Amino acid sequence: MGGSMVDWATRVAEAELSAALPRRWAHSLGVAGRADDLGRIFREDASLLVAAAALHDVGYAPRLAATGFHPLDGARFLRDEHGADERLVRLVANHSFALLEAEERGLREALETEFPLLEESLLVDALVYCDMTTTPDGNATTAPERVAEIVSRYGADSVVGRFVRRASPEIFAAVERVDAALAAQPR
Ligand SMILES: [Fe+2]
Repeated sequence: MGGSMVDWATRVAEAELSAALPRRWAHSLGVAGRADDLGRIFREDASLLVAAAALHDVGYAPRLAATGFHPLDGARFLRDEHGADERLVRLVANHSFALLEAEERGLREALETEFPLLEESLLVDALVYCDMTTTPDGNATTAPERVAEIVSRYGADSVVGRFVRRASPEIFAAVERVDAALAAQPR
């Protein structure tokens, strides 16, 4: 699919998010831009990562929010309405430690049965890195600032706040692993 996978993903994400949730759309574009910057680590999987980044939050689209858990709603939409690439769908389903949030929501079994975590852990880390170093408006930030922003936006004792506080050591470790991979890769 190559570059066409990115074009397709961007079109699908735009159709679902740009009018309904313009700020999510701006965030998604920013995350895709971060993914594009990681291309030199991933070579043949670079476009898979950018496509997953563009689509990672598509499940927030009101018409797709069936369970209200956006990684699962988005992955089911991509699988069922678009017959999307299996690795892309599994990346979206598991973006940014979704399994931990699924646990808070009683959806862990559904998520891991339908969409097992990819074995290519650096790709999984890379999507965490891109999402967690991009603000809700699509600008660059640091992972600690992003986590603090999420906790203050949702509230520390909300489902999302509890999940992010629990996931934050994992989030920071994933970001460090990607930074290390970047540092090891000649420009
Ligand atoms: Fe998300």
